[in-house]
Amino acid sequence: MNKIKRIKGTQDVLPGEVHNWQKLEAVIHSTMSIFNYREMRTPVFESTELFARGIGRLTDIVSKEMYSFEDRGKKQITLKPEMTAPIIRAYLEHNLKTQAPLQKVYYISSLFRQENPQAGRLRQFNQFGAEAIGADAAELDTELIQLALAVFAKLGIEGLKLEINTVGDTECREPYKIILKEYLRPVLDQYCEDCRKRFDGNPLRILDCKKENCRTLNRNAPKLSDHLCSGCDEHFTKLQDTLRAGGIAWSHNPYLVRGLDYYTRTVFEITSSDLGSQNAICGGGRYDLLAEQLGGPPTAAVGFAAGIERTLMVMGRQGLLSEQPGRLQVFVAPLGDAAAAVATEWVTKLRAMGYRTDRDYLGRSVKAQMREANRQRAQMVFLLGDEELKQKNFSVKEMDNGTQKSVSFSEIGPYLSDFFKHEK
Ligand code: HAM
Repeated sequence: MNKIKRIKGTQDVLPGEVHNWQKLEAVIHSTMSIFNYREMRTPVFESTELFARGIGRLTDIVSKEMYSFEDRGKKQITLKPEMTAPIIRAYLEHNLKTQAPLQKVYYISSLFRQENPQAGRLRQFNQFGAEAIGADAAELDTELIQLALAVFAKLGIEGLKLEINTVGDTECREPYKIILKEYLRPVLDQYCEDCRKRFDGNPLRILDCKKENCRTLNRNAPKLSDHLCSGCDEHFTKLQDTLRAGGIAWSHNPYLVRGLDYYTRTVFEITSSDLGSQNAICGGGRYDLLAEQLGGPPTAAVGFAAGIERTLMVMGRQGLLSEQPGRLQVFVAPLGDAAAAVATEWVTKLRAMGYRTDRDYLGRSVKAQMREANRQRAQMVFLLGDEELKQKNFSVKEMDNGTQKSVSFSEIGPYLSDFFKHEK
């Protein structure tokens, strides 16, 4: 029979690598806590309408990448492709505003997008991110950027680049779109097919097309930052002032638009040259109109999300992934049936005492059990044969110095606490 394989664009995290995920997750939880953000978890699937309205029907995500289906009750369901719309849906549904005027939340979650798989681009991937809901202060945008950078710094990641831009608000963006279209119209046939399609519904997205030819054409395009209304202009200035005060280096990329339609004012991206063509490790921005688009009251908010697989990829390239930690402390090696039964008692006791303990279950020879103990980097082996059973002791082999000694059953507790006194 054919073996069933995993679906294209998905990944398994194997036992030999999961410790790096756990370390990353621990850093995320502790950094979020230091910045006073609390975790939120939302369902894996939501109404398709949430993303269509939230992210925008003309975006790549909604128009071609969502895993959507009709369930047996004829409801249109989508596996979540991002977390911001679900967080705002839950914020409104549970009226979280009444609990605190500013809600600061974070998440670690699997997401689903049917993109063309390549290095750093998966169909099921994981993000960590944070959203601060309830304030429009530019200082808060800076805090989110600081928070993302703090996680990367704690992981030891270096050489990241921060780019910022503003996409204005409805007051200045609509008139700017007219100016931009006037510029684009005479040269539109020189743009790629995707850009030509974006012209009517979403001309701003033409500005961050990654194709070389489109980028060259964009160089002469009018910039939104030159056409901001006074409110957006002030906000963008304040953002840069607070970034400067926070000692953060950035560059202004006037073509940064991002692929989700909910942004207003601030947008930012953090990239790493240690990633290939998919070089964005983190992206975010302000989305002051999203809550209203989802049927709620006006609610200013800002957030970011970072790709966990991409973060681990950068860590790998920078030599920051570690060998498997945590050696096995005791390997119990019984020889024969009688010893196997006593080994069960001892393994139970040793684990209850808090020692990382394992044993043989395969009835292997002494030699094979020693090999297994070595493979598991056990610090000591408790050999248990007929002679040991009779004498009520273990032949203990200390693996690092090769010493072998007899330790009676009654002395095991003190012997171990002395041996491991520096580890506890
Ligand atoms: P996004 O730019 O779509 O933004 O995704 C954020 C990050 O998720 C990317 O920078 C990348 O590291 C990772 N990512 C995205 N797609 C994939 C994929 N197919 N495979 C692997 N990694 C991927 C958002 O999702 C917004 N919700 C961010 C946000 C939060 N804005 C405001 N609040």
